Amino acid sequence: MSEEVTYADLKFQNSSEMENIQEFDQVGVKAPPAPSHVWRRRALALILLCLLLLIGLGVLGSIFYLTLKIEMEKLEKLQNFKDKLQSNVSLQLIHNMDSLEKIRNLSNTLQEMATKLCYELCRKEPEHKCKPCPEKWEWHEDSCYREFKASETWQQSDSTCSAHNASLVKIKNKSVSEFIKSKELYGYWLGLSPRKDKKTQNILDETIISSDWFTGNTSDLNGVMYCGYIQYTYVYYGLCTWRKNAICEKLANPVKIESILMNEEPSERM
Ligand SMILES: *[C@@H]1O[C@H](CO)[C@@H](O)[C@H](O)[C@H]1NC(C)=O
Ligand SMILES: *[C@@H]1O[C@H](CO)[C@@H](O)[C@H](O)[C@H]1NC(C)=O
Ligand SMILES: *[C@@H]1O[C@H](CO)[C@@H](O)[C@H](O)[C@H]1NC(C)=O
Ligand SMILES: *[C@@H]1O[C@H](CO)[C@@H](O)[C@H](O)[C@H]1NC(C)=O
Ligand SMILES: *[C@@H]1O[C@H](CO)[C@@H](O)[C@H](O)[C@H]1NC(C)=O
Repeated sequence: MSEEVTYADLKFQNSSEMENIQEFDQVGVKAPPAPSHVWRRRALALILLCLLLLIGLGVLGSIFYLTLKIEMEKLEKLQNFKDKLQSNVSLQLIHNMDSLEKIRNLSNTLQEMATKLCYELCRKEPEHKCKPCPEKWEWHEDSCYREFKASETWQQSDSTCSAHNASLVKIKNKSVSEFIKSKELYGYWLGLSPRKDKKTQNILDETIISSDWFTGNTSDLNGVMYCGYIQYTYVYYGLCTWRKNAICEKLANPVKIESILMNEEPSERM
């Protein structure tokens, strides 16, 4: 049986080409036919895998690129929106500032009107509640004035005014000058700086531009000093130790708008 098989094999081998046999023999001897097949498959698989990976990489790349592009566009849009909003906000701010200024202007106008109205009310009723000066103090423009018939030295008069958070009157403009003149004051100390030499009399209006008005605090008067006082429309200098009356001034408060309406009750009750 084995001989027959061998013969058949040989016969088969003979009928086939020699190279084939040799090849078959060589391969058959050195490596089995099955591993070669696996290697080829593996190589093919590897190539395929590589291709797939490449394709995947390409796809991923293009997806990444597209996403990036979309995101960039979104970012740009957001940036534009932000810019628009910012300009809108600044526009609104400008608008608000404008409104604020208008409100401020309106409030100023209202304050001016209230002041004028209060002035009229005080002319009829000197102690009207809207008066921006303390009781007994006379209101003129932005200031309050009060006479003290005390017969004191200049320094004592200065202290009297200080005690009322006020100072001796300084006449620095025509309006105050006219107001003081209208009071026909006789022998009242003024807020002029005490001086060492006696100055001749002056017309009141001439003192407006004078630099003699007292600027400091109560100064200690050492030795013989001369102080200024008013006599009708004239300003005289006399010894600071003479006894005279005082006229004080201080800043008025702003007129309270609600105070204009307040005084109605008491007048009705009366
Ligand atoms: C800007 O403000 C106006 C008015 O407040 C509003 O109508 C408009 O939509 C705003 N614009 C943006 C881009 O927000
Ligand atoms: C507010 O008043 C000032 C002057 O008092 C004026 O120059 C300005 O234009 C006014 N503003 C508005 C918004 O009316
Ligand atoms: C004049 O001066 C007084 C203070 O001395 C001030 O209250 C008043 O507003 C001034 N009047 C004018 C028109 O400048
Ligand atoms: C003077 O001002 C002070 C503080 O501003 C205050 O406490 C005092 O009551 C005021 N005096 C008078 C007489 O107005
Ligand atoms: C007034 O006197 C006080 C202390 O007594 C001092 O602090 C202030 O600077 C003086 N003011 C002037 C204008 O001289």
